[in-house]
Amino acid sequence: MKISVIGTGYVGLVTGTCLAETGNEVLCVDIDENKVKRMQNGEVPIYEPHLDVLFERNIKAERLKFTTSLEEGLSHGDIIFLALPTPEDEDGSADLRYVLGVAGEIGKLISDYKVIVDKSTVPVGTADRVKETIAQNAKVDFDVVSNPEFLREGFAVDDFLKPERIVIGSSSEKAIKLMEKLYKPFVRSGNPILVMDEKSAELTKYAANSFLATKITFMNEIANFCEKVGANVDKVRIGMGTDSRIGKRFLFPGIGYGGSCFPKDVKALHKSGKDAEFNFQILESVLNVNAKQKLALIPKIESYFNEDIKDKHFAVWGLAFKPETDDIREAPALDVINSLLQKGATVTAFDPEAMENVQRKLGDKIKYATSMYDALKGTDALIICTEWSIFRTPNLNKIKDELKNPAIFDGRNLYDIEELKENGFDYFSIGR
Ligand code: UDX
Repeated sequence: MKISVIGTGYVGLVTGTCLAETGNEVLCVDIDENKVKRMQNGEVPIYEPHLDVLFERNIKAERLKFTTSLEEGLSHGDIIFLALPTPEDEDGSADLRYVLGVAGEIGKLISDYKVIVDKSTVPVGTADRVKETIAQNAKVDFDVVSNPEFLREGFAVDDFLKPERIVIGSSSEKAIKLMEKLYKPFVRSGNPILVMDEKSAELTKYAANSFLATKITFMNEIANFCEKVGANVDKVRIGMGTDSRIGKRFLFPGIGYGGSCFPKDVKALHKSGKDAEFNFQILESVLNVNAKQKLALIPKIESYFNEDIKDKHFAVWGLAFKPETDDIREAPALDVINSLLQKGATVTAFDPEAMENVQRKLGDKIKYATSMYDALKGTDALIICTEWSIFRTPNLNKIKDELKNPAIFDGRNLYDIEELKENGFDYFSIGR
């Protein structure tokens, strides 16, 4: 099939590349000339495991192409994916400027039947707005489909190629048939293609992400309570998670969720509620608890240093909002670092992938180490913000030799408490 993808951010790029992988002819459109040139030369503009191999293969096979021309993009594809940014507006709602802007252009430019697919995470009712906007100028027939993505950063290629479900929101038989044909190769395992109305599809995405954020946040509150009453959240987590109704995943407490999706989506759903005069009380709590949780290590650190961390120097391991990504959007590490700096402390940081992004954001406010051990040199204590695998089994002696105090503040519960104690560490984690 002929597919166009408008917007080559993380979702657009993964979508375009994976659709090319099953033999479709894909043309990706982006307004960023420099980025398009780089992609034409085979350079993947984001860090996402396994994407590079697929990218190269499909460019070579001439199934994956790039252009800056929206006109070209719209004439190429029978199905047009909109994978445009929906940044958070000042009031927490999703800003539809880009989506509706392109929709306006689509109306003017299409000259035969197209299926327009909302791939971006958009508030309930957006498919209708896109439809109306296109219809203002369109002289030909078209359909708008809501097809939310459920891609995790770091696993996006795998999630796209082997989805647990595909959600298609549409009321047009013709569009549904085309979408089912497109996705058939991805659900050979028997996982379902769920067809529903546009609004339900749009809400499914928000509900799924908000539920997961709530699950994590609930566990963070349980962890905080464990600290109060002397329970161990590791035990509680396993005790709960073995109940199949609860499930083992997304129960790991820590210094809060971050990233490009959960924070934005919870806020946007909360705001959609407000707009509809519906009070999402549970989401309000999730937002408040998570904002506080990001700083859960700070009181522990201050208490260890007798409430005075001015001029103390800290090593921070992990800057990305989670492992296997260089993404630092809403990363708890940034909240931790900013709080430390505000209190007069200094920081040397290390992350396997996110250093450049942090350097761009924080500049010379902090120091940047070349390795995890290099970050420890001359520091007063170690703080862990992201659970990268390389931090899981470190050389404990090496850590102790470098630190002025044998103190580790672990925001991701990486280590065995007893083992750290035996090795002479003052070890602080979350809920244990
Ligand atoms: C998420 C959804 O999983 C995905 O389906 C959606 O399409 C986009 O948003 P992503 O943001 O890439 O994906 O990351 P995810 O792996 O879901 O983690 C989100 C955040 O939750 C991270 O900050 C992570 O550290 C945190 N988390 C996750 C926990 O604190 N505890 C857990 O048990 C799981």
